[in-house]
Amino acid sequence: MGSPKPLLRCLAGEAIEPRPVWLMRQAGRYLPEYRALRAQAGSFLDLCLHPARAAEVTLQPLRRFGLDAAILFADILLLPRALGQDLTFAEGEGPRLAPVVDAAGLARLRPEGAVERLAPVYEAVARVKAGLPQGAALIGFAGAPWTVATYMVEGRGSADHKAARLWAYRDPAGFDALIDLLTGLTTDYLSAQITAGAEVVQLFDSWAGSLDAAGFARWSLAPIAAIADGLKRRHPGVPIIVFPRGAGAGLEAVARLPSIDAVSLDANAGRSWARRSLSPHAVLQGNVDPLRLVAGGAGLEADLDDLLSAFAGVPHIVNLGHGIVPETPPEHVAALIDIVRRFGRGDATQGEHGR
Ligand code: CP3
Repeated sequence: MGSPKPLLRCLAGEAIEPRPVWLMRQAGRYLPEYRALRAQAGSFLDLCLHPARAAEVTLQPLRRFGLDAAILFADILLLPRALGQDLTFAEGEGPRLAPVVDAAGLARLRPEGAVERLAPVYEAVARVKAGLPQGAALIGFAGAPWTVATYMVEGRGSADHKAARLWAYRDPAGFDALIDLLTGLTTDYLSAQITAGAEVVQLFDSWAGSLDAAGFARWSLAPIAAIADGLKRRHPGVPIIVFPRGAGAGLEAVARLPSIDAVSLDANAGRSWARRSLSPHAVLQGNVDPLRLVAGGAGLEADLDDLLSAFAGVPHIVNLGHGIVPETPPEHVAALIDIVRRFGRGDATQGEHGR
């Protein structure tokens, strides 16, 4: 029996119009209603771990815009925190963690009970599910092991992930132990989100592009495959989206993984190449540059026309190439959704652009 929810139909391989649309980081600082609730909560972490507020923030963008999905309001760094790694978000500076740099640091982590300590997240999932507008699907998520490991090892965001790459290249077997730990826990964490009501899950590998090809195969691709295989055994009907940002040629290997359903493209991924090389293997998601959404106007319209034409006739979920940035005018989000829906109804020019 088919699902009436557009996102789920598309993830099952249907090329539907209008196309389903949701945006990475669709809940957040660009929305005044988010800033108000965030101020009440005190800290960002308090907001993530307060099920009623996290559920409310998750639903805010759906109330304002007719999006096809809600993405759980949480953070990829809640898992390292549940492992016992001290985590703070310094105002305007991003995350800070006590770095894990070697086997001794790894031994101090507390994997037993970590997934259970994330109970407030599952409670938020259940609350969102209960309040979901008709036709919208609920997406759960986690960071992919490599990306989570970069924060755990560096202790903060970094441009080059030097400490994580050096650990991996100097001591591959030791680094495998961290990745393997995260692979098992991430499978259980996503499984618990699904049990609580998530209908789709997305793995964010935001730093997939910083490893060399051999490192990508071992620490990005292989753990993603293991998580997806594990989830498919437990929850065969739940679609899995993977966002391997910056993976370039590695995108094709991700798309070909038998247990994944969709691949989320960054803005740099060529659309005609993606249609030719990836679409036969996976549903496509993406890939508007978040700064095009800030700029808005004719440039955004032209880019959306190009996107919608490039992926016409294949299963495609409209999204950005990375998360919404705080300076995004909410009216531009409304305009994007309007353009996608008008195109899907055939109101806009639907020229074949010779792709
Ligand atoms: O998409 C959504 O709306 C769901 C919520 C979500 C957040 N973080 C909320 C958040 C999701 C899916 C994430 C994922 C996440 N978190 C990633 C992967 C995606 C990506 O953007 O590459 C990463 C790398 C993180 C780690 C993280 N969290 C960083 C580096 C930062 C600081 C940068 C920033 O934007 O402030 C965060 C904080 C964070 N996560 C905020 C939000 C809404 C801002 C916190 C605030 O309100 O002050």
